[in-house]
Order: sequence, then C-alpha cells, then structure tokens
Amino acid sequence: MGQIGLSRRAGSLKPSSTLAVAQRARQMKEAGADVLAFAAGEPDFVTPELIRKAAKDALDKGLTHYAPTLGTPGARAAVARKLETENGIQGLTPKHVAIGVGGKQCLYNVFQALLNEGDEVLLPVPAWVSYAPQIELSGGKVVELPTDAASGFKITPEQLKAAITPRSRALVINSPSNPCGTMYSPDELRALAKVVAEAAGSVAPNLVVVTDEIYEKILYGGRTHLSPGSIPEIADRTVTVNGLSKAYAMTGWRIGYAACPGAFGLELIGAMDKIQSQMTSGIATFLMPAIEVALSGECDAEVAKMTEAFAKRARLIESRMREIPGLEFPSPEGAFYVFADVSAHFGKKAPDGTQVSSALSFAEALLANQKMAVVPGEDFGGCGDKCIRISFACSEDQINAGIDRLEALVRSLS
Ligand SMILES: Cc1ncc(COP(=O)(O)O)c(C=O)c1O
Repeated sequence: MGQIGLSRRAGSLKPSSTLAVAQRARQMKEAGADVLAFAAGEPDFVTPELIRKAAKDALDKGLTHYAPTLGTPGARAAVARKLETENGIQGLTPKHVAIGVGGKQCLYNVFQALLNEGDEVLLPVPAWVSYAPQIELSGGKVVELPTDAASGFKITPEQLKAAITPRSRALVINSPSNPCGTMYSPDELRALAKVVAEAAGSVAPNLVVVTDEIYEKILYGGRTHLSPGSIPEIADRTVTVNGLSKAYAMTGWRIGYAACPGAFGLELIGAMDKIQSQMTSGIATFLMPAIEVALSGECDAEVAKMTEAFAKRARLIESRMREIPGLEFPSPEGAFYVFADVSAHFGKKAPDGTQVSSALSFAEALLANQKMAVVPGEDFGGCGDKCIRISFACSEDQINAGIDRLEALVRSLS
C-alpha cells in the first residue's frame, strides 16, 4: 500500500494530540480502568432548552432542504446584530457575515480566502492546535510569537512590532485563550491594535487581524472582553470569528461564524462563500432558527449560570494546584483551562519507571500511574512542550479527585 501513496498535504498533517490523549483515556476506561479525564475542550452542560426547541420546531416545520451557503438572511442578521450590540463592531450587514461548520471551518475559510503561498501569519504561542495546520494547508507560513507562563502567555506590543515584516498577512488573536486560560485586558488589546494600525500604514499594508473569540463569554474575576473589531484604527481589517459551541454548550451542533465590516469585509466574505459552497455548502437548515434564538439574548441567564459554575471551578482548581510543588501557571482568567509549566519535574522518574523529560512523558506518567488524562502541550507550540493543559469542564468532585491524583504523581516523582 505504501507505494500507492497520498498527497504531501495529507502526509504533512499531524493528528491532534488533544484527541490522541482523549482516545487513549477512553480506551483505558472501556477496559475498566477508573480514568479521570481532564482533556475535553467542551462544556459539560446541556444546550439551553429554548435553543433545542427552536431546532426541533424547525424540523417539524419541514426546514429540511438546503439553506443558502453562508446561512439564511435571518441567521446572518442575528449574528450581525449580536456583534454590533454586544461587541461594538460597527457597519455589519448580513452580507458581512459567514456562518459555517463551527468556528473551526470559519477560521479555515478565512485563511483560505486570505493567504497566498509564503504569506506570514503571526501566531502567539502556545496556541490552539488547529491554527498552524489550517494556516499551512492554506499555503501560509506560521511565525511563532513566543510567550511564557510568567507573562500570562501574552505577547507584548514591542514583540509584535519586531515580528511584523512586509510579508505579514495576518495576526491571530485568541482571547481568552485555549490552551492558556488567560486573556488580554482591553488596554493590552488597544496597545496591540496600535502596532497593527501603524504597521498597516507603513511596512505591512495588507495586515489583517483574525480574532477568535469563541471563549468571550467564559470570563472570571469581573474581567471584560473587548473585541479588537470594535477598535476604530483596525476595525476595517479585523475578522471576528466566534461560534455557539462554548458559550451555549453546543459543541456537537457545529455552528460558527465570521464577520468583517466594510468593502474588504464584503470581498472576504464573498470569497469564503465561494470556498464553502464548493466544500460543504451551508450548515443544516433546521439550525438557522436555533442560531436566532441563541443570539437573541433569551438564554443569557442560562449562559451566566454556566459561566458562574466555571468560575467556581476555576477558583477551586487554582487553589488546589497552588499547593502542588513545581507547577507554574497564571491564574485562569477565561475559557476553562489551566496551562501549567511542569518542567521543574523534568529529569525525574515516576513509580512505573517512566522518565519524565517532556510534557508528553509527564502526561503519560500521570495517565499510567494515576489514571488522570490531561493534554501534553507539545502541539500548542512555543513553550507548550513544558506544559500540560488541564480542562476543568467537569464537576467539582472530579476536580478534587483529579488534583489529588496530580499531587500524588508529583510527590511520587524521584
Ligand atoms: C480556540 C478555539 N477556537 C476555535 C475552536 C472551534 O470550535 P468550534 O469549531 O466548535 O466552533 C475551538 C474548539 O476547541 C477553540 O478552542
């Protein structure tokens, strides 16, 4: 079979480490092991009832035929309205909005529509695992902007300025961040926007900001989320990507969207329409009314309840993890992850003989010795190879039991 071969593109793609660990944990569970999984990137709540009802009613009404590729006018208008009223992004019409199969497909279509061979995309790392493969599949070149735990995994304006070249085509911002669990303050974002605007007026006229705001509603400690698309200096070159997966516990529904105002926005969304129409067409038609309900604000109380639960878990997991020696991590500020640098334990040995020399071997030792599944950070880029990602989208009981196990592993290392 090896001689028949596949494309270089297919060969260059790595499977996601997130899924690989989750799969190993599932296999151990199926074999009867008492595994506690902290790998999932999805809320453990049920989609609010009103949203479920809207989809059921739509099915019963016969909304079972093809929808327009980028969504019905009503659903696109609901996204435009939401982005204008909640996020302060001006000048959006339904035609400035694309709805696709999750934030994931929308991001991919943005990169496909933007990038030519060799265009540089500035990517603060550690970053969500799919950005780099999506950029590379689109012909782009990833330029990593390294961060670390001590700086809250955030880039500085100086760092951004130094990385911009005439080939810079896009800057990716993901705040709050997966995997880091931290976020930029409004002032920090304004400072980054200033650098982008200056560069756009000189060295990098085609620079675009791609901002992934999928965790915008899951914030802790009274923090506020600012959409870069609402900052006037960069508004007309900012593509906002979001979706319903995380805020409304709708990961399995596969609903995401992208929007960008102005003439460039129309051009970009038009290109995404062509791309998506040749790939997947529109998402399921009976989801369109559910999008309108979700974005109407009618479920805000339920969303707030979920966020409150995440906030409580964030405080619990942080306080428990601070008691464990040799873990360095910033306080979780948003999303539902703690990203901890465990490199102080490299060079040690676990009770089963596993040599801990990387994030991957630390995660393996944790799974083998304590049956706790976390995601090793190698695939997130940058200093991710020193870090593990712990998702706290699970009950407080599970958090307590899991952190007991993490502590037991760390104390057993010699
Ligand atoms: C940072 C980030 N962006 C985008 C996505 C894509 O989410 P979806 O395709 O479910 O909308 C995820 C999912 O894990 C994510 O963590």
